[in-house]
Amino acid sequence: MCGIMGYVGHRSALPILLDGLRRLEYRGYDSAGVAVLNDGHIEVRKTAGKLAQLTAITGTPELLSGTAGIGHTRWATHGLPTDANAHPHSDCDGHVVVIHNGIIENFLSLREDLQARGHTFRSDTDTEVIAHLIEEELQGPETRKHGNAEARPSGSLRITNHESRITMVPLEEAVRRALQHTRGAYAIVVLCSDQPDRIVAVRQISPLIIGLGEGETLLASDIPALLSYTRDVLIIEDGEMAVITARGATVQRLDGAAVAKEPMRITWDAEMAEKGGYPHFMLKEIHEQPRALQETMMGRLDVPRAPELDGVSYTSEFVRGLRKLWITACGTAYHAGLVGRWVIEHWAQIPVEPELASELRYRHPLIDPNAMAVAISQSGETADTLAAAREARKRGARLAAITNVVGSTLSREADDVLYVRAGPEIAVASSKAYITMLVALQMLALDLGLRRGAMAPARAAQIISALKALPGKAQEVLLREGEVESLAGRLADRDHMFFIGRGLDYAVAQEGSLKLKEISYLHSEALAAGELKHGTLALVTPGVPVFALVTQRHVYEKTLSNIQEVKARGGLVIAVAYDSDTEITKHAEVVLRIPDTDDDLAPVLSIIPLQLFAYYVARARGNDIDQPRNLAKSVTVE
Ligand code: AGP
Repeated sequence: MCGIMGYVGHRSALPILLDGLRRLEYRGYDSAGVAVLNDGHIEVRKTAGKLAQLTAITGTPELLSGTAGIGHTRWATHGLPTDANAHPHSDCDGHVVVIHNGIIENFLSLREDLQARGHTFRSDTDTEVIAHLIEEELQGPETRKHGNAEARPSGSLRITNHESRITMVPLEEAVRRALQHTRGAYAIVVLCSDQPDRIVAVRQISPLIIGLGEGETLLASDIPALLSYTRDVLIIEDGEMAVITARGATVQRLDGAAVAKEPMRITWDAEMAEKGGYPHFMLKEIHEQPRALQETMMGRLDVPRAPELDGVSYTSEFVRGLRKLWITACGTAYHAGLVGRWVIEHWAQIPVEPELASELRYRHPLIDPNAMAVAISQSGETADTLAAAREARKRGARLAAITNVVGSTLSREADDVLYVRAGPEIAVASSKAYITMLVALQMLALDLGLRRGAMAPARAAQIISALKALPGKAQEVLLREGEVESLAGRLADRDHMFFIGRGLDYAVAQEGSLKLKEISYLHSEALAAGELKHGTLALVTPGVPVFALVTQRHVYEKTLSNIQEVKARGGLVIAVAYDSDTEITKHAEVVLRIPDTDDDLAPVLSIIPLQLFAYYVARARGNDIDQPRNLAKSVTVE
């Protein structure tokens, strides 16, 4: 996700902005930019690529002498990672510059309205509408001036102040009014050449921290960026606005009510700070899942009955003519595909064949133009997945991509792209990418089902409301982390474990088992519960842990019978079950609970205890959790 940095004080702002952005690099980004206010002018420099490229175009005196500025590293969501789309973005005249982390859901209609009122846009981003909205609120529509920002090479922009300009509205008031027109989740930071003593920042879901120094005040999207300058911070909460000046910060709610905040002293070391206080990126990413789920659905499920999938452009006619869907991916993404198969077949009534990408590419699959291939990949760069996707396309299939990385190879090659918006995933073991892939596939299945008339609108409405409840329920599962941690402590010295389930529970069992293998290094296997007795039951001896997932009510009794087979051999049964399931305590020694949900959506919740279990077993065994042996985050070789 994007990195944000701001400074106002007595020192040169530029080196501080660049240093802060450098400390946020771990979040991942594809372009970067700064805006520095100097003597009534705002100088903007921005570029696609890394901070080294930005540094190369910022060493000029006019930038170095400014003592207020904002900086940004962008992780693309709306628009490709280009110079023009890099932040900051400015209004028509270049008096207002904005950086932003998050998504403005209704930016398209806002942009159309602003363009109709004569505003000139220079990027494809959702962010730019904010700058123009603030411009209007500062000036009032009737006095709006036409821009004279002159483009320069290397993505730079010289902004000239108007001597005659009269700004009546305080920046914070203009920002407040502008944001009343927007919907979404964001953190935004605004600098205005006409009100040079202040920077205004607002948090609506995306994180924002203020750093309090001596005669200087900073802000950032994450604590590590601030630690070289101060350890006294104010954490800005959702719906709050901060106005920072060299003398400090005031905080108010967006409705104008003042907020009294006590500074917090940060005692973490730099490494801990980078991980948001968590000991490992994996644990941080597991805890980011509720928010990631919200982002995946944001702006896509607002219509009561049909998803609006940006980036997906197939027609209803094409969907009605579909005979078959191929899902192809590797590892965790493939496991997400198994869940996708289930929901697409059930909700859209299209036969789906999931195939490991490394197999599909060499097996001469019978793919034809009446088929669509769905390639799933967090990175969008996995060599096998790319090859399988190309093979499907070569054979005439339309290619849809589900990926996390905007502008990745897969996203560029696909006809339709559905971004999962999980934010950068650093740990090799995937967690938030998996869970957001599930929701992306569920939204895709809904869309296909509705277009084909295979899903009743009433059922779609039911699913949409169950989907919207998932972030809150995922948070509830995370609150039960302690139980999973103590179970992991008890079982960390075992050599083998098994995971069983039926239907969607089997798909999740496979992901739970993979998670455990890759970071704990102990042997585990996932089986369709009914398959156990056909061989693997021979390995179940007294005390061997067997995780049984029992969220699928239509096969509940059947899975209970399989649990009995395990118990009869002395196996230790650990169930993953709904809160409402009172029966399960008679069958399992340990029960890891998840809130009740629609059975078709259960994987989004039932995987969380298994992720946590793998994490705590690996930690008890002293393993390198974020970079497990022999594995890489993005596998770009065959
Ligand atoms: C998951 O924890 C693994 N890191 C791995 O299985 C991964 O999912 C696989 O390599 C596919 O990666 P991709 O999603 O980037 O294509």
